[in-house]
Amino acid sequence: HPVALSDYTPPDYRVESVHLTVDLHDDVTLVRADLSVVANHDRTKGIRPLVLDGRGLVLRCIALDGKPLTTDEYVRDDETLTIHHVPEQCTVSVSTELKPQENTLLEGLYRSGGTFCTQCEAEGFRRITYFPDRPDVLAAYTVTITADRATCPVLLANGNLAASGDLPDGRHYATWHDPFPKPSYLFALVAGDLVKVEDTFVTKSGRRVALQIYVQSHNRDKCDHAVRSLAEAMRWDEEAFGREYDLDLYMIVAVDDFNFGAMENKGLNVFNSRYVLARPDTATDADYAAIEGVIGHEYFHNWSGNRVTCRDWFQLSVKEGLTIFRDQEFSAAMGSSAVKRIQDVRYLRTHQFPEDAGPLAHPVRPETYDAINNLYTATVYNKGAELIRMLRTLVGHDAFRRGMDLYFDRHDGTGATVENLVSALAEASGRDLTQFMRWYREAGTPEIHVTGSHDADTKAYTLTIRQGVAGGEPLLIPLAMGLLDRNGNELSVHLDGEQAPLEPGRALELSRQEETFCFRGIPEEPVPSLFRGFSAPVRLHYAYTEADLALLMGKDGDLFNRWEAGQRLMTGTILQLVADRRAGQELRLPPALVEACGTLLTSGGNDRAFLAEALTLPSENLLGEQMKEIEVEGIFEARRFVRTALARQLRGELSALWDQCRPTGPYRFEPAETGRRSLAACCLGYLMTLDDPSIRQACLRQFREADNMTDSLSALTLLAHTEGSEGETALAEFHARWREEPLVIDKWFAIQATSPLPDTFARVQRLLEHPDFTLANPNRARSLILSFAVNNPVRFHDRAGGGYRLLADHVIKLNSLNPMIGARMAEPLTRWRRHELNRRERMKTELERIAREPTLARDIRDVVTKGLARD
Ligand code: ARG
Ligand code: ZN
Repeated sequence: HPVALSDYTPPDYRVESVHLTVDLHDDVTLVRADLSVVANHDRTKGIRPLVLDGRGLVLRCIALDGKPLTTDEYVRDDETLTIHHVPEQCTVSVSTELKPQENTLLEGLYRSGGTFCTQCEAEGFRRITYFPDRPDVLAAYTVTITADRATCPVLLANGNLAASGDLPDGRHYATWHDPFPKPSYLFALVAGDLVKVEDTFVTKSGRRVALQIYVQSHNRDKCDHAVRSLAEAMRWDEEAFGREYDLDLYMIVAVDDFNFGAMENKGLNVFNSRYVLARPDTATDADYAAIEGVIGHEYFHNWSGNRVTCRDWFQLSVKEGLTIFRDQEFSAAMGSSAVKRIQDVRYLRTHQFPEDAGPLAHPVRPETYDAINNLYTATVYNKGAELIRMLRTLVGHDAFRRGMDLYFDRHDGTGATVENLVSALAEASGRDLTQFMRWYREAGTPEIHVTGSHDADTKAYTLTIRQGVAGGEPLLIPLAMGLLDRNGNELSVHLDGEQAPLEPGRALELSRQEETFCFRGIPEEPVPSLFRGFSAPVRLHYAYTEADLALLMGKDGDLFNRWEAGQRLMTGTILQLVADRRAGQELRLPPALVEACGTLLTSGGNDRAFLAEALTLPSENLLGEQMKEIEVEGIFEARRFVRTALARQLRGELSALWDQCRPTGPYRFEPAETGRRSLAACCLGYLMTLDDPSIRQACLRQFREADNMTDSLSALTLLAHTEGSEGETALAEFHARWREEPLVIDKWFAIQATSPLPDTFARVQRLLEHPDFTLANPNRARSLILSFAVNNPVRFHDRAGGGYRLLADHVIKLNSLNPMIGARMAEPLTRWRRHELNRRERMKTELERIAREPTLARDIRDVVTKGLARD
């Protein structure tokens, strides 16, 4: 039965403090929890029972105010422990037994490569002890860990170290105290044989903070970038949001086995090692950028998540949407903000738009859920971030900052709701944001239809805008825009009836089903540049001509919309070719696209990161997104045709630009250099479609001789994804060189899983048997299976292949091993409605096969049930 937002009631009991003692052993780990419990309901109207959550626990004993309870004094089922007679205030003491070494769920307390670690969000704490495991129960924690000193020299928990010392039998202990009240999902404990890499940060008010990153000793030389990113994030949050760190210590632990990216546990983040470890020769520019972003993300949670948490899991976006927005702004400030925006929008369209259009669609604030883990979605995170961005556009930057201050101030130490967040912004700006709340309640991507008409006599230009929204009621939508004349000059935008022209950067506001905006003093039919910077997460329908798009691509003052125009031109061209191919016509590349790309190559400006984005064709997935029924082969062939034809016609320009992008010194992670490398990779990618032996040799040399993983990996990918013996040779060399580096071996698996070559399915099957493959490590499972299913449409959907069966087989294997990952793996199958009949049936058959499994974990059942539900 689903949980419903409308059923929310405050907790019947609060927990003021928690004393935990965790005795770690190789066989049985003992946990003792002493909870000071205080009633939180009107007891004159009847005394309510104390209900504690607990899953998979072995209960040793339970006591109330020191007196052990007999089995008739409490009731236990699979998920709860209930004590019926509890005084107003009391201490509940619970002892439980755990076997972390057998925990493959990677939830609760588990071991990764020998290290004991925890993951409690959302409901992992109940796998450690009995507790009211909900985010609105906030307590101060004191934690004592005991363990064998030789195997676990490092003992960590949240907050500050209060005491430590030796114990008999080669054991030792450490006691940690976290003064900030927190919900149980932010609890963390780590014990193992780790080394620390350290730095200090002085906050703006002068607090000295020790920054510590804990890793296995062989990774000691891969922490510099993470430490630097942390310090930069701390500085940025002080400047951009006025937020300062509040403890003397900030610890990050990297573990290899982790279900997602990282976790913001107070003072003790636990990270998937892929978001910590980087050295120029082992990590790409994309990895460096992702580390910076995730380190920032978890740090920013210290305010947006920890100091102010969420009242219940329906409000997840008040911490995740807001924190994604904050990390996006941080990364934008560290590099090129236009390119960051392009990448974020591409991510949203690739992951969130399809989710919002499919059977797993849900509002940013859902009203019900079955499995909480399945709510950690692109909608809650990334669409949630877009909602915050729109709010900032609507109220303006200054009021936004004041509103955020008010929000943090007012809700510090408590759990907040979406209403709390939006009210703070409304109060600070003096605006009524009631209509905006609809964005949080409604699933689906709004379709915005725009037409323009120009009257030469009156020099008036009118935009007519219609919102097509699910449910009918209009949304409040900021439309940042401009008008260009036929030479590409920005026209002053003066709305009819207003005194002065619209300030640059100010957005029009849409609030009705259909409305018109009339601009004065427009001498000729302009080209509108709409939703600049992607000012709202909508699909825009406007009948741009190729000439309009070429103009915007070359001249728009908004870099995002220059990119957007190019993507529209490319998408239109490729989809037309898909249709031509279907009609049996010969494929021909329209001159407009060649010309536009030629202009970019020869006079596209100095922003190389931007040029690389502008020259990159939309992915097969994004193209498929545009079709009612996805033509997998048609898209693959048409896209490949365009890529090769562009390379043939622009070969000279591509070679020249590639030449200008050669490295001039050792690897550095900085905007100019990452831009140069990505443009070089983009040019080489086009050139490699020409199947020219000298280019292949140059590519092989780059693979072997590059001093950094970015250049080496881009070359390897191109070799492995094209016919020719160099691919095999390079893959073998790569594996031999990096066999001891799991994060690099993940790349080796992913490259092979995403190859467009026809033998890829057979190769994936072989790789599943490779000694380095294991389903127990989420990164590895994703690198082979999800890369194949998500990033290789033409091979995954191959009519002859068994991609769907392979995926379902692994979902079933993960059902007992790690259902959280299994549920993610089932998602691609739920997209069956978008495919042609034959594929549709086969995908559905596999979902049904999963559904027939006798005991299906909740996370997987939820996805499969929704995937099969009638619409
Ligand atoms: N709060 C974590 C973050 O930084 C993610 C937790 C994901 N938890 C889950 N059960 N999927 O985004
Ligand atoms: Zn987060």
